[in-house]
Amino acid sequence: MKVKKSTATLSAIVAVSLGITGAAIASASSTNATVSVKAMADALHLVMDSDRSVYTKKIVNRLVKKEKVIKATEHFEDDKALALPAQMFRFGSEMAMKRAEKMDDVNFSYTLQSLWPINRQNAPKTKAEREGLKFVAENKGKNYYTTETLGGQKYFTAVYADTGVAPVCVSCHNKHPDTPKNDFKLGDVMGGVVIRIPIDS
Ligand code: HEC
Repeated sequence: MKVKKSTATLSAIVAVSLGITGAAIASASSTNATVSVKAMADALHLVMDSDRSVYTKKIVNRLVKKEKVIKATEHFEDDKALALPAQMFRFGSEMAMKRAEKMDDVNFSYTLQSLWPINRQNAPKTKAEREGLKFVAENKGKNYYTTETLGGQKYFTAVYADTGVAPVCVSCHNKHPDTPKNDFKLGDVMGGVVIRIPIDS
């Protein structure tokens, strides 16, 4: 059954992220256990952020910056290059949203944004996004949680820092012709991931 399956999967993700043992996972999935929207957002972010860091460090930074064997560009197909980490993130988000359309009980969206965007489309659009991006940039290590109502629907909205985890993050942004900021340093907050989950009002 669809509902049961996704609850089990989510419990497993959250359990893994909290370091809960196999026995705890089994008992949670055998009941109708639910997780909070905050725990769901935190777990989703943990997975996205880990995948994003792995792609950047193990593929892009190694091949572009260390070994210098290939470039990473926006036009990666024409250029026979690597896709940018931000593009990988967006492709994943688009695919997830499309697949979620067919699932009654799975509903969320996520985007990568910044107060200093190379691509203006990635600038914050709502008050919560703007405040969240500012908060995570000014309060390192902390996440931002709020609720907002958009088009009559209430949402739980979480914003997580997106950090320059590899030298290639910083060097590519600092020298990009469209960047409004060219003094990023390794470890700086360069933007944020916004996760939005519809909730009952
Ligand atoms: C090779 C160049 C390159 C690398 C490496 C790179 N970026 Fe980007 N980044 C871009 C470009 C170009 C965009 C805009 C792409 C788009 O929206 O299609 C972007 C988008 C972003 C955005 C959304 C806001 C914006 O600027 O448009 C954030 C946040 C971001 N990158 C952070 C990072 C972080 C953190 C890393 C390392 C984990 C990283 N980038 C690695 C070039 C790069």
